[in-house]
Amino acid sequence: MLSISALSKSYPNHAALKQIDLHLQEGKMLGLLGPNGAGKTTLINILSGLSKRDAGTISWFNKEIATTDSRYKQSIGVVPQEISLYQDLSAYQNLLFWGSLYGLKKSVSKEKTDRILQDLGLYDRRHDLVKTYSGGMKRRINIGAALLHDPSLIFMDEPTVGIDPQSRNLIYNYIEKLKTSGKTILYTTHYLEEAENLCDRIAILDNGKIIVQGTLDELRTISKIQESVEILLYATELPVDIAAISAEYQHRFSFYLKDHALTISGSGIAEALPDLLSTMINQSLKIKKIEIKKINLENIFLQFTGYQLRD
Ligand SMILES: Nc1ncnc2c1ncn2[C@@H]1O[C@H](COP(=O)(O)OP(=O)(O)OP(=O)(O)O)[C@@H](O)[C@H]1O
Ligand SMILES: [Mg+2]
Repeated sequence: MLSISALSKSYPNHAALKQIDLHLQEGKMLGLLGPNGAGKTTLINILSGLSKRDAGTISWFNKEIATTDSRYKQSIGVVPQEISLYQDLSAYQNLLFWGSLYGLKKSVSKEKTDRILQDLGLYDRRHDLVKTYSGGMKRRINIGAALLHDPSLIFMDEPTVGIDPQSRNLIYNYIEKLKTSGKTILYTTHYLEEAENLCDRIAILDNGKIIVQGTLDELRTISKIQESVEILLYATELPVDIAAISAEYQHRFSFYLKDHALTISGSGIAEALPDLLSTMINQSLKIKKIEIKKINLENIFLQFTGYQLRD
């Protein structure tokens, strides 16, 4: 329903977006996964009309549009990366204020405000000033404020960064509810797990470029890697000299050690396993467990970008 084509944007000293092609399907959630400075917020700002693009087109239901188009503007809801709330007003007052900005009748605004506060687990605290809220509570209200006018297309810019697990779960549940009600969502994140678990499709944005996009299964197919191997070592084996193990294989596979688990991924890993294991055994490493896993987004990200995206 929203197609972005050859979209570019440069700041005076930096090309932030380079020929972006991206497609949002109606009723689906697209995760835009990228590290700090990848260009996520720049893209959200352009799509929400806060910033101008240098080149490229944006089509909405197959028709090229300007982001100033009033029907488009009414149909989008933008959850900004920075909290945009009045700290000296209550959550309830903040939401009613946003309702009035969207031109909602007061009765409608009140009804929606009550529902959103309940859905986001903030109803009991609704009359407290926002400045007395925790970071996670502010994040939740920041989401609610963007959705009062019931937009069909929602842009969320890293809505769960640095918050407590309870707030995060409430946000995830709320997003599931939005998905069930048929909303189309563009969700930026640098959390691999979020992109993998929440989103229908994933686009990897790296240094202003879309490296790859598709469902997780499509990304697996494109990456040509189906499996990775996780080798669990005994704690006494640490630290492990990965360089020594990987020397022979570094051109074929990627190696990643976290705690006691060494993950190796790459095309043909299962076939190369006996060789790899004998290399490790020759180095007197004691292996606790070996598991062949279907590759996850972490392996895919590493393959396409050449580096690990760590949270
Ligand atoms: N107003 C600006 N002027 C100059 N450069 C900018 C401006 N805004 C962003 N940039 C640069 O453009 C690049 C992309 O920034 P952007 O904020 O879009 O990244 P991001 O993916 O949202 O990062 P983060 O995960 O940190 O929010 C960065 O290198 C940033 O420094
Ligand atoms: Mg950002």
